[in-house]
Amino acid sequence: MIKVSLIVAYDSNYIIGKDGKLPWHISNDLKYFKKLTNGNPIIMGRKTFESIGKPLPNRYNIIITRNQDYEKDNCMIYSSINEAIDGARNYAESNNCKDIFIIGGSEIFMQSMNFIEKAYITEVHKVFDGDTFFEPLNKDWQEISRQYHDNEIEGIPYSFVVFEKIKSQL
Ligand SMILES: NC(=O)c1ccc[n+]([C@@H]2O[C@H](COP(=O)([O-])OP(=O)(O)OC[C@H]3O[C@@H](n4cnc5c(N)ncnc54)[C@H](OP(=O)(O)O)[C@@H]3O)[C@@H](O)[C@H]2O)c1
Repeated sequence: MIKVSLIVAYDSNYIIGKDGKLPWHISNDLKYFKKLTNGNPIIMGRKTFESIGKPLPNRYNIIITRNQDYEKDNCMIYSSINEAIDGARNYAESNNCKDIFIIGGSEIFMQSMNFIEKAYITEVHKVFDGDTFFEPLNKDWQEISRQYHDNEIEGIPYSFVVFEKIKSQL
């Protein structure tokens, strides 16, 4: 079964972005993101794509936009969440991928919650300035694992936390 998951990093106030960028740099979190998403379809909003600036290598990059003329090399463009998820599923089935990742930003997370079964969350244990938020998971979710990292080098402690949607809520 192909699973639809989200992957996000948020701070102690659920901030995920500032001025179109990530508010922090945590190198181990970028590695974690790369390892999990490697080889799989990733779905993102147009603003998140533009913040990254290029398609991420070794992943099937899907961008969601309302702009019918939007084109980017080596990316699939869709004008709705449903179409994007269908496109990702087709790719995943043909390429033996087990996962589809919704990678943000805030607008796309909010509109895809009904499709998502698993959430890979990096809790950044600090307060940052920001303008873009993640809406906290509700009672339909249960935590299944948690790993704390001191991260003394960058001075930003964080935890990798995984949640699953409670089966009766699927
Ligand atoms: N911390 C993290 O884990 C993380 C992850 C991802 C992003 N971010 C941050 O989040 C910020 C970007 O998030 P955001 O919420 O502003 O933008 P976003 O969700 O990345 O993109 C929003 C855009 O997606 C398109 N869109 C949204 N809903 C749509 C729909 N139903 N149908 C068709 N197109 C739709 C629209 O594009 P058009 O305007 O082109 O129509 C909209 O402007 C940045 O600061 C980024 O760095 C953080």
